[in-house]
Amino acid sequence: MEKVVELKDIVTKFGKKVVHDRVSLTVNEGEIYGILGGSGSGKSTLMNEMIMLLRPYSGEIKVLGKDILRINKKDALYLKHNWGVLFQSGALFSSLNIRENIDVLLKEYTKLSKKIRDEMIEMKIELVGLGSDVLDMYPSELSGGMIKRVALARALIMDPKILFLDEPTSGLDPIGSRDFDNMLINLRDILGFTAVIVTHDLETVKNIMDRFVLLGNKKAVAEGTLDEVLDTDNEYIKKFFNVNRGETRRVRYGK
Ligand SMILES: Nc1ncnc2c1ncn2[C@@H]1O[C@H](COP(=O)(O)OP(=O)(O)OP(=O)(O)O)[C@@H](O)[C@H]1O
Ligand SMILES: [Mg+2]
Repeated sequence: MEKVVELKDIVTKFGKKVVHDRVSLTVNEGEIYGILGGSGSGKSTLMNEMIMLLRPYSGEIKVLGKDILRINKKDALYLKHNWGVLFQSGALFSSLNIRENIDVLLKEYTKLSKKIRDEMIEMKIELVGLGSDVLDMYPSELSGGMIKRVALARALIMDPKILFLDEPTSGLDPIGSRDFDNMLINLRDILGFTAVIVTHDLETVKNIMDRFVLLGNKKAVAEGTLDEVLDTDNEYIKKFFNVNRGETRRVRYGK
C-alpha cells in the first residue's frame, strides 16, 4: 500500500511551549484516517503542518512522496492542486454566494471557462447531496449541515487525491453528523481519495475511520484501527475513550 502522508519525529514549539514531541504517523492510500486527541492536543496544528501552513520545529513530513519541508515551488503547486481542505473555523466567505465561494479555487488554480467551471461546481454540489438552487444563496441562508456540505464540495472541486478535514461535523446534531459521515464514505468509494480527518466524535471513529492516531501528552499515544488501539492497558487511552464515550452517548441518535 502506498504511503500518502508520512510524519517522522515531528517537534512543534510555539515559543517555549512544546506542542508535539517527536510525533510520527503514516496515512495509507485510500484510508479514512483520524487525528484524535483532547482539546489543545495539537490536532489542528498537526494538520496545518501537513498542508504547509505551519512549519514544525524539526522532523520530516512527506505528502504524496514530496518532502514538504524542503520543497520547491513546482512541487508545492502540485500538492496544492492535489489536496482539498476543510478548515475548522468558518469554512465559507460570508460576502460571496455559494457558487462564488466554490469558484474561488477554480479561478485561482485553473484557466477554465466560466461555462466549464459552472458545470464542475454544479456536479460537485450534487455529489454532496445539495440542489443547484443553493448556488445563488449566501452562507447565512444555509443551515450548518448545508454549509459543511458546501465546504466539502469546495474541498472536492479539484478532484483531490487527499482531503484534509478539520472537525467537519462539529456543530452538527448526531443525525447530521451521521449523514455527513455516510456521505463521506460513499464519496471516498466513488472518487477514491484518501481523507485525513480531525475529529473528537467517537461515532465517526467507529463508523468510518480505517485507522487513526491519538495525540496526548505531546506524543502519538497510539496509532491503528479502533480494535488495535483499544487492546491496551494504557491508562491514558482507556480514559480518553471512556470519557468521550460518555459524551457521545448523551447525544446519541436512535439508541
Ligand atoms: N499560532 C499559535 N501561537 C501560539 N500557540 C498556538 C498557536 N496555534 C496553536 N497554539 C497552541 O498549540 C496547542 C495546540 O493547538 P491546536 O489548535 O492544534 O489544538 P487542537 O487539538 O486542534 O484543539 P481543539 O480540539 O480545541 O481544536 C494549543 O495549546 C494552542 O494554544
Ligand atoms: Mg483544532
